[in-house]
Amino acid sequence: MIVASEISELKKILSTWKQNGDSIGFCPTMGTLHAGHMDLVETSKKQCSKTIVSIFINPTQFNDPKDFAAYPKNTDADLKLCEEKGVDLVFLPNVDVMYPKTSTPIQMSIPSLQSSLCGRTRPGHFEGVLQIVAKLFHLTEPNFAFFGLKDYQQFRVISAMVEELNFPIQVVGVPTKRESDGLAMSSRNLRLTPKDRETASLIPRMFQLAKKTIMGGERDLKVWKEILTDFLLTGMNVKIDYLEVVDPITLQPVTNLSGKILLATAVFVGEVRLIDNEILNCPPT
Ligand code: PAF
Repeated sequence: MIVASEISELKKILSTWKQNGDSIGFCPTMGTLHAGHMDLVETSKKQCSKTIVSIFINPTQFNDPKDFAAYPKNTDADLKLCEEKGVDLVFLPNVDVMYPKTSTPIQMSIPSLQSSLCGRTRPGHFEGVLQIVAKLFHLTEPNFAFFGLKDYQQFRVISAMVEELNFPIQVVGVPTKRESDGLAMSSRNLRLTPKDRETASLIPRMFQLAKKTIMGGERDLKVWKEILTDFLLTGMNVKIDYLEVVDPITLQPVTNLSGKILLATAVFVGEVRLIDNEILNCPPT
């Protein structure tokens, strides 16, 4: 496995691969890799002849400096895991490589997809995500790029950027990998205390309750949301950042429980902000 920290090293290897006709799969990450990231790698390896993982904790997507400072870092373990999984190249740049002091930052946004969910409660977050992902796409020149669907809004926003700006890349969404109690895998789970970790299992249970309540005949969106909110708030140390119901394509709020809807939530359990979502198929009204 090659570990490249400089753009010149990365480009040299890419040009050899391109000359050989390799297809390139790219899995961008912020490190502290877990089985969910490894699913991205496995999906890439099935589809592409070379797989690149990038590890870079991108400062421009954190709207809260405390959250950035607390973000876990585990580079040695990450590299070991990538090696074991047969990753071909890890791109591991530092901040000066990605944002040289002389750079003039560009800001991109897709307002219609950013006015709800995390875009609403984390101002500036997706501008930072689009900035870094566009840069990484140009640097790694992949044919396919793999993103976890736990970050569904991120997947939608990046897919839209690729489509609108005609990047020659196919964006692939990979289903959320879950712990045995249903909690979505996330690097942030490591920061939960044992008690908060128990509380966090309310999130996947809330999705089960959502399905059961719809199937039980509850069709009033307001009442349904209240039931789910009350359920989450039975947990100790829980603060709901949002619990929203939107159209899975436009990410605009829906007005009734019918057809395909995206139920998405962000919850603070203690200090740790966890997100999750599920697409529900509601019977027509
Ligand atoms: O999902 C993430 O880990 C990050 O938002 C990404 C896509 C690597 C950009 O920094």
